[in-house]
Amino acid sequence: MREEFSFPDITENEVLVAPLYGSWEANMSHALDRTPVDVCRQRGEDRMVIGNFGVVRVERPGKAVTRVKEGDLCLIQAFARTDQDGYVKLVHAYDAPGTTGVLARRTKIGEHLLLPLPKDTRYSLQQWAASYGRYWTAWDNWKVAHACWRSQVRTDPADMDPPPLAFGWGGGVAVAELELAQRAGFRAAMASGNPRRLAEIEAKGMIPVDRRLFPDLDHDADRMAADAGFRQRYRQSERTFLKIVSELSGRRGAAVVIDNIGRPVHRATLRALGRQGVLTTVGWKHGMRLETVRANECIKRHIHVHTHACCFHDIEDILEFQERSGWMLEVGDQRVYRFDEIPELARDYATGQLDSYFPLFRVDEE
Ligand SMILES: NC(=O)c1ccc[n+]([C@@H]2O[C@H](COP(=O)([O-])OP(=O)(O)OC[C@H]3O[C@@H](n4cnc5c(N)ncnc54)[C@H](OP(=O)(O)O)[C@@H]3O)[C@@H](O)[C@H]2O)c1
Repeated sequence: MREEFSFPDITENEVLVAPLYGSWEANMSHALDRTPVDVCRQRGEDRMVIGNFGVVRVERPGKAVTRVKEGDLCLIQAFARTDQDGYVKLVHAYDAPGTTGVLARRTKIGEHLLLPLPKDTRYSLQQWAASYGRYWTAWDNWKVAHACWRSQVRTDPADMDPPPLAFGWGGGVAVAELELAQRAGFRAAMASGNPRRLAEIEAKGMIPVDRRLFPDLDHDADRMAADAGFRQRYRQSERTFLKIVSELSGRRGAAVVIDNIGRPVHRATLRALGRQGVLTTVGWKHGMRLETVRANECIKRHIHVHTHACCFHDIEDILEFQERSGWMLEVGDQRVYRFDEIPELARDYATGQLDSYFPLFRVDEE
């Protein structure tokens, strides 16, 4: 909703900023839908401004601020509260009380949560804004998942024929992570039901898997028990999916499955995973209460990895890696929604009208 919103003036360690670009992300839709949690209720507030990632321009630093100055371009780091190891517990402009996001002409943030962009960055502001939240999450999740896989498999991917298969369910996070898997010598495959996305997946050298080939892969234990027609359609779709994974993996099953969807695909994912396979996730887009058969998971030596965002202390390394390696998305000629059009963007995202996994909006002029 477009309305007036005010907040107390900045304290000496805070910075008044003008958001320039951001990207619509799943957490923003989860907040609007008030599911799986109602963040306003959780924060004990009647209303809030969402948007926890974006490129911002420093307008006015507080008196004690030393790391940034007026005019600097920065990325917002959403680590409102972290644990003893630097992992996020409460997210800025999401579940951290009293924080204001980038869907406002002006907002404020603690100095320590602003990361100045390198002056000579090889990427545009739009590229940074569209990607960094999901890329950093992907970097962290892949780091753990890859280390887990290597902890049980001695053979180098380069010596495996065919290479080990990394398969992805989800959107931008899964794509970014599969790019890292490719760099580590894995064969990458990604599911999508959108023809333009399938073409983009292929253009990245990944194997596009058209999920319209298995339209009833929507596991629901209650319906499976009560509805014979549903059960039959589900099983047919699951068979088709498992056959595809078997062929792509030389019948070994997937080495790694990145699953940020959850309930509809969980059962098939575990069946698609090969021995010593890693199921790795940061997301629960369509259901977070999942069932596993522990005996199967133990006997097949499956490792389940759960992570959230990334580590505050890794961010400079990730940024340096992105600058050095070219691990960054191309924004192409995609539409950039104007500030007034953000409600339309939210609707287009919710109804699956977008071709990009990284939809952009602009708040203030560069
Ligand atoms: N914990 C964290 O730190 C963290 C960070 C980032 C994201 N997440 C979470 O991870 C989830 C994914 O986020 P994202 O930004 O990568 O992607 P996203 O923008 O949420 O896109 C998800 C995509 O998954 C596909 N999909 C939807 N329903 C499906 C189903 N039933 N089966 C298989 N595929 C389905 C659709 O792709 P097609 O239309 O192409 O088929 C959809 O566009 C979200 O819930 C998000 O909140 C968590």
